[in-house]
Amino acid sequence: MESKHFLTLLDIPKEEIKNLIHRAIELKKMTKENIVYTPLQNKTLALLFDKSSTRTRVSFEVGMTHFGGNTLFLSPRDTQLGRGEPIEDTAKVISSMVDCVVIRTHDHDDVVKFSSKSSVPVINGLTELVHPCQLLADVMTYVEINGDITGKKVAWIGDANNMCNSYINASKQFDFDLSIATPEKYVPSLYKKDDKNIVLTHDPLEAARNADLIVTDVWASMGQEDEEDERKKIFKSLQVNKNVMNVANKNAIFMHCLPAHRGEEVTSEVLDSKSSVVWQEAENRLHAQKALLEYLLVTNI
Ligand code: CP
Ligand code: NVA
Repeated sequence: MESKHFLTLLDIPKEEIKNLIHRAIELKKMTKENIVYTPLQNKTLALLFDKSSTRTRVSFEVGMTHFGGNTLFLSPRDTQLGRGEPIEDTAKVISSMVDCVVIRTHDHDDVVKFSSKSSVPVINGLTELVHPCQLLADVMTYVEINGDITGKKVAWIGDANNMCNSYINASKQFDFDLSIATPEKYVPSLYKKDDKNIVLTHDPLEAARNADLIVTDVWASMGQEDEEDERKKIFKSLQVNKNVMNVANKNAIFMHCLPAHRGEEVTSEVLDSKSSVVWQEAENRLHAQKALLEYLLVTNI
């Protein structure tokens, strides 16, 4: 049987991705109740990361420990990839020995190339295009706190980056309305003019008005460190602060994939407020990705 991959949120059929979110909530409950469930004994997950990570690495490693399996963390310094071995050759070799691979890299095409030669499931652990694992945790967190996200209004405020693109995909998979506020000339690459459920604006208050969920992310992503000072000026008017949260719905919540730059894209006042669910969102990376591993490796057998 051909392997399922998870390179973008659209790789999982709509009904199945909704079930996956509910399964993540169930797995979280089982973990809190100390129920031992080890469906991945003797399985190995390789983590090929050529960008930094706290949450993604820790959540996958701990998730595999819970499931009774092992992980292998490989940075470019550790493999021949860093010395120019072709990605397709690397994919054939690694996938002949492990059961699943998570890749965090710059170019999304590299993950596509790897998956095309991989005999085991490949998970996108973040590329410049999308960060789909984060969205599993975000939607799970919304559902836990405020119930079904269908038909709700989500406001994305900030850069037209990989997280913004992931919200575009999520709006289709989970049927919510999305208002995106970016600086002028910043258009998310996955946006299409005929996206009926998506509104683009440059005004953060317009995006946030009556929203149920407000989301932002850093103004300079990994790989854009040289542009940081210039971006601070360009994005200044797009900070999520009290004024932005005040125009949202009364029970609106705030999310950020983290790491956050306090005082830039979000004030500490908002990040540390009662509306902020960022710590629950971060913890849910673990539970959501356990549901993903189970979906790819257990139900696929
Ligand atoms: N949100 C997220 O992916 O965090 P890390 O970069 O720490 O993995
Ligand atoms: N947009 C950020 C997300 C980090 C989790 C980046 O790509 O660096």
